[in-house]
Amino acid sequence: MAKPSGGHATDIVIAGGGIIGLSLALELRQRGLSVAVLERHRAMSSASWAAGGMLAVNDPQNPLELLPLAILSWALYPSYLDRIELLSGRHVPLRTQWTLQQVQSERVSTDALAAEIAEFAPGLDATGHSFKWLEEGSLDPNDLREALPEALRAAGGMLVEETAVVGVESTAHGVLVETQRERIAAGMFVNCCGAWAGEPRLGGLPVVPVKGQMANLRCPPERLRCVVRVPGIYLIPRGDSRVTIGATLEHVGFDETVQESSIKQMIDAALRLLPEATAPMQVESWAGLRPGTPDGLPILGAAGTKHCWHATGHYRDGILLAPVTARLMAQSMLGEFPDVPLDAFTPARF
Ligand code: GLY
Repeated sequence: MAKPSGGHATDIVIAGGGIIGLSLALELRQRGLSVAVLERHRAMSSASWAAGGMLAVNDPQNPLELLPLAILSWALYPSYLDRIELLSGRHVPLRTQWTLQQVQSERVSTDALAAEIAEFAPGLDATGHSFKWLEEGSLDPNDLREALPEALRAAGGMLVEETAVVGVESTAHGVLVETQRERIAAGMFVNCCGAWAGEPRLGGLPVVPVKGQMANLRCPPERLRCVVRVPGIYLIPRGDSRVTIGATLEHVGFDETVQESSIKQMIDAALRLLPEATAPMQVESWAGLRPGTPDGLPILGAAGTKHCWHATGHYRDGILLAPVTARLMAQSMLGEFPDVPLDAFTPARF
């Protein structure tokens, strides 16, 4: 597809080695295209790693327009993980299969539900909360952080770390992508730069970083075997005594520092729900930057510049939406009708 012009040439260049960029690269490799992913730091080192890993298909906080993407992505997840495992030789298990979601209505709190909570979450103090069950999984992003880059390399994709895109120029037949080291000729360019996707050199999208702080508590695994979500806090057991709690939602620019006071507030809220959990002396805590958009929806589709595309703005759902994003973007880029229409997500809406 790409016309070499002296330097390195490939069909597709993707900027951003997070879960979106790597998953799209894997999908394109599967369709026989050559792909180079350029990552300014290390692959899976930003939001893709900091994320909770909930595959929150029916989170009531999600915008309604997201639902068709979320449902299809959840359906694609088993084959997505199978492919990654097969290629990388690493296991990426779903660590929970169910979520207890707080709801307003008292009617959903039945005796049967109480018995199920006693079975799946005997350590939970549900006082003052009404819950319903959602069938949705969660994974530990650390597992994907190991497996996904290896899977792409095993599939024949190129992953170039510590390499930022300096500029992108459209030509008659494709693009010239400039890095600090070289110029790459490609048929298409895709901006998968997450919270950094709004940089002017990538097209100036209205993407903003939304910081989330997270921490790990400890609790015997049998005391909590499902995700618990209430306003302001969620608990994600990893099945090995870690319970990941999150998350703050902060508009503070590109600040990834952890504030002790924020972590303490989250720990207090988590301990009210799971009193048996403990916070180690040195609590593991971290922060990441979600890519936020003005309408809370991802930005998926052709850019205003020829041969350039965007796949970013996944805000709180990048892990969930990676498989569907990879599929729908690949379909659109190759001139097929996407399984779900992307009109609501077009970059042209801004
Ligand atoms: N996906 C959960 C969060 O953004 O906090």
